[in-house]
Amino acid sequence: MGFTNILASFVSVVASCLLVAAGAATVAADDATSETPIYQHGVVAADHSAASEAGARILREGGNVVDAAVATSFALSVVRPASCGIGGGGFMVIWDAKTQRSVALDYRERAPADTSASDYGDAADAEKAEPVSVRGGLAVGVPGNVAGLCYAAEKYGTLPLAKLVQPAIDLCRNGVAIDEHDIEVQASTLHKIRTHKDYDSHFVLLLKGYLNNGVKWKLGDRFHSPQLSALERIATHGSAGFYQGDVASAICTTVTNESGKMQLADLQSYTPTERDGLQANFHGQQLISMPPPSSGGIALLQSLQSLEAWEKKQHVSLQSLGHNSPDYIHVVTESLKHAFADRAEFLGDTDFVEVPVAKLLNPQYAAQIADHIDLQKTKPMKDYGRFFAKDDGGTSHFSVIDQAGNAVACTETINLTFGSFVVVPEFGILLNNQMDDFTANPGKPNAFGLIQSAANAVAPGKRPLSSMTPTILIKDGKATYACGASGGPRIITATLQNILNHTVFEMAAQQSVSAPRFHHQWSPDELLLEPAIYETASTSLHARGHTTKRASALAATQSASLDTAKIKGGSDPRKYGQPAGY
Ligand code: DON
Repeated sequence: MGFTNILASFVSVVASCLLVAAGAATVAADDATSETPIYQHGVVAADHSAASEAGARILREGGNVVDAAVATSFALSVVRPASCGIGGGGFMVIWDAKTQRSVALDYRERAPADTSASDYGDAADAEKAEPVSVRGGLAVGVPGNVAGLCYAAEKYGTLPLAKLVQPAIDLCRNGVAIDEHDIEVQASTLHKIRTHKDYDSHFVLLLKGYLNNGVKWKLGDRFHSPQLSALERIATHGSAGFYQGDVASAICTTVTNESGKMQLADLQSYTPTERDGLQANFHGQQLISMPPPSSGGIALLQSLQSLEAWEKKQHVSLQSLGHNSPDYIHVVTESLKHAFADRAEFLGDTDFVEVPVAKLLNPQYAAQIADHIDLQKTKPMKDYGRFFAKDDGGTSHFSVIDQAGNAVACTETINLTFGSFVVVPEFGILLNNQMDDFTANPGKPNAFGLIQSAANAVAPGKRPLSSMTPTILIKDGKATYACGASGGPRIITATLQNILNHTVFEMAAQQSVSAPRFHHQWSPDELLLEPAIYETASTSLHARGHTTKRASALAATQSASLDTAKIKGGSDPRKYGQPAGY
């Protein structure tokens, strides 16, 4: 996507936000910027306007933030099928202001019980253009989304599940207008299918159900998701409507026919896991983020802590460096290179391997990292702990916040765009390729260029390491900001910059998600800069030893904010989303 297009669409997003604001009685004009709608009761910021609206509808009908999150997620399965859905998994961080409790809900996919590391790697991939961890049955992890959403609704929601699935069902029945993102994703996926032998005959259900049979989408065409009957069963039977009976049998048969190893027992035994959120402080705010099997929370909090330690040691504020100035980008990049090097070395599913979480988040460790940050130059890769990136869009993040200071930050994924390309014929369910997030090919980078350690090796029942970073900021017991992103390892850097934009540079939610970004993940040793930053900072960063590269659009991030009684949402113009509230 060209940056000019992004800017053009951002202008149109802002313009349409204004139209929405103008049409809603409870939405006031923002006195500060007169650009962003301010809501009185709550907001949902998703990467598709219909998904935001599904959640906002539930808030209006009296649901709480978790009800709204569940409805948004089911709607995303219909309107952003390339990114996430009932064939995938995710993480949800919840803040309940009344009980002052947080929950980090893990409904990430698991490796099927019959899989082993030897199913993947060079020998297994010998005949294939793409690794077996990326396409086909062996790429598919046991989906966790439906279990996670049903669990969240039952334990933390207030409305019946059927009501929460209804907006998604309505979107299936009525169809949804094709937007720019759908057109971009269709073009890139059709290119992939045409350039790989037999993909057009092999993944014919993907072509028919999701890619308009190969006929180019036009703006305003309508997409009717083939997931209707699966969603109706979930609405009627809850989790059992997916993990038992016809749907479960159809998923197993599909995966097995595609040379995968999923058994009914894998689906029947799937349960989500409640974990303690990771906590740290930054600039006087408490942050709660996702623990392993995500690496996102650790990398984010480690980076923020080392940045604050650097400010203290140097008696310099990040703010004084100037937003996206070369000094600022350099210092933040250095903190990220340390965090990603540690990710490569230490991180995996804590139900299976020891991860030194406390050590990585110890403020003394942050101080040590700060000592290694030299404002004048970057260092050779060996001086960080150990890993690069492709453009892929198989993830979706949304944020919800209400006037009482409750919030949900939720990131869900099928991994790469359209996941494994495998579709369950009877129910239209698009299955993930999350197995590629394991260290499937030791010593070799995965689809995101990440080299990972044995801590993230494939094992039955294990969850692959993730970068998803749903995060909530809390002040005086109330959620003030909920955020997160999609974009593989760029999730971590985009979430970090979103938080810095909001807390250090005092940007409102929409401004914060829209601002130009940069990315470094330690390996490959390259600093990606969006065009606006590339123009202004590349020369100076190059002089400090960075290998800089121009990147068109880095990740997509969504935020919801509460400041005194003002509620705002920000959906990333890079993915053409729009928030909705009331
Ligand atoms: O869990 C993860 O880190 C990856 N499966 C996320 C993939 C992703 O964000 C794709 N891009 N938008």
